[in-house]
Amino acid sequence: MSRVAYVNGRYVPHSEARVHIDDRGYQFADGVYEVVAIVGQRFVDEAPHLDRLERSLKELRMTMPMSRRSLELVLRELVRRNRVRNGIVYMQMSRAVAPRDHPFPKLAKTQVVAWARNSKPAPASVAEDGVKAITMPDIRWGRCDIKSTALLPNVLAKQLAREAGAYEAWLVDEDGNVTEGSSSNAWIVTSKGELVTRSTDEAILAGVTRRTVHELAKEEGLRLVERKFSLAEAKGAREAFVTSASSPVVPVTQIDEQVIGNGKPGSTTLKLRERYLRYMVEAGVA
Ligand SMILES: Cc1ncc(COP(=O)(O)O)c(C=O)c1O
Repeated sequence: MSRVAYVNGRYVPHSEARVHIDDRGYQFADGVYEVVAIVGQRFVDEAPHLDRLERSLKELRMTMPMSRRSLELVLRELVRRNRVRNGIVYMQMSRAVAPRDHPFPKLAKTQVVAWARNSKPAPASVAEDGVKAITMPDIRWGRCDIKSTALLPNVLAKQLAREAGAYEAWLVDEDGNVTEGSSSNAWIVTSKGELVTRSTDEAILAGVTRRTVHELAKEEGLRLVERKFSLAEAKGAREAFVTSASSPVVPVTQIDEQVIGNGKPGSTTLKLRERYLRYMVEAGVA
């Protein structure tokens, strides 16, 4: 079956989907994006993802190119045409196609592309053994709360992680605090049993999965604190894990050379993972 993508109002074969060389997304990374997980053909937390998309656009003074309802219909059509059962839908909007010049063009027509694909579930070893994270300085800009396509530091961080045989790179700010992963939010369970994740500010993306896991943790009666935590505290933690739409509650059992806890995914992490996977199945909207 050949894949179908959406480009500015048209459904086209994925292999023929193109943007213009004067697209500012291509030239300046002047754009935003979102990724929504699909489970059993249903969208997981679609509304908060689209809320965040609208917020990212607003922060960059870009306009939504279509009504929200129309966008929802496009996403559904992509899932249908690509026969996605379990996977992701990706959407990206850039400011405009215009002759290259840094200031915004006078007539900026937001460009939209989107696609959807099936993806394989994570191997069982991820939950059984956990994964490794390496750490490095967070060299990103000061507005990481915007889900911008300007991801070069994240790309470099993830590449270094892969080269080190690690799943994720945790980024560390100038004060020695962990901000987040290169494509995920970072969490720890302290030796006192507190579940900790950094409070949302301009240094991190307010993850939708983070928010849902937060709610589920409250339902489970876990003691949850949103605050900064240092790399030293993370290395001394009982448990650690990451969350994102495509990596839902992945246990981290090693940070750099430091084994976390007893080196196995912790009970809180596994409980939250199981709870979140159930939520994904139950809470999706068609
Ligand atoms: C830098 C960064 N932080 C956090 C997240 C997690 O966000 P979400 O849970 O909304 O997928 C992502 C997801 O792509 C990300 O790129």
